[in-house]
Amino acid sequence: MKISELSEKVSLLLSDTEDGGFDGMCILEDIGGITRERAALHPDDELHDSICARVIEAANKRKIGYPLQYILGQWEFYGLRFRVGEGVLIPRPDTEALAEEAIGRIKKRGADSPRIIDLCSGSGCIAVTLAKLIEGSEVFAVELSGEAFPYLTDNIRSNDARVTVIRGDISDGRLLDNFRDEDGEIFPVDCIVSNPPYLTSEEMAELQTEVEFEPEIALFGGNDGLKFYRIITCLWKELLTEGGLLIFEIGNDQESAVTDILINEGFGDIFTAPDATGAIRVVGGYYLG
Ligand SMILES: C[S@@+](CC[C@H](N)C(=O)[O-])C[C@H]1O[C@@H](n2cnc3c(N)ncnc32)[C@H](O)[C@@H]1O
Repeated sequence: MKISELSEKVSLLLSDTEDGGFDGMCILEDIGGITRERAALHPDDELHDSICARVIEAANKRKIGYPLQYILGQWEFYGLRFRVGEGVLIPRPDTEALAEEAIGRIKKRGADSPRIIDLCSGSGCIAVTLAKLIEGSEVFAVELSGEAFPYLTDNIRSNDARVTVIRGDISDGRLLDNFRDEDGEIFPVDCIVSNPPYLTSEEMAELQTEVEFEPEIALFGGNDGLKFYRIITCLWKELLTEGGLLIFEIGNDQESAVTDILINEGFGDIFTAPDATGAIRVVGGYYLG
């Protein structure tokens, strides 16, 4: 098949898909190795059957709503590349708002080598970004899922980031022992950041097709979506220095509930930040001790 014929077939397959043109271009480039320039300059080049088969298979998957990011096996977050696939949440632009807010606030605190914990780390997009952008930082990433964990370790390695991984359930208080010395004294932490699962039962029943391919463990935050905010705030605050920062990504309309959780657990100077659409996506506060 010629390049022009394959391009046309992919366009046709994805004609009913939102952003089908962009998705098709990514599939041709990443899966078929056919750059836009080559397609424009050499449309009559003949392609090997195996390449055409791979590209058409990918386009067919995309047509039924399988996420483009899983097809490509990688995605960009904050200008860095992350390997992704089934079993790990795809890094979202929304979460870049969380990373940006955390970076600004940690830098403003001015600690020489800030100690940071990213809870519910998934692909490691937050942990890796903070480790790369905050000089001298000591970053820890905590993740439970055995499917997500290999992506986390791979992404730390491929981005050459200084991040220590801990596998475990963030609701298990014994995980905090990782931050105690032999005498049980805590190594104080400057910032805890988290994008936990936060969808409600209702939202889980109405997922978009693409999101249905992502792991439930990464999405479901208990009936009211707030389970992880309660656990993290109540249990993990013990590690924070006085004035330490706790900063969350939140779901739609969770701002006041998460603010209440923070205030009830002894946090002050509560702040929020929007995502690129203007929706409040970040809530955080400082531990008053
Ligand atoms: C919303 S995803 C966020 C992933 C990543 N931080 C990001 O922003 O793309 C939540 C993550 O929490 C993990 N997780 C769910 N329950 C957990 C638990 N009890 N302890 C630790 N991690 C958990 C999931 O496996 C998933 O990777």
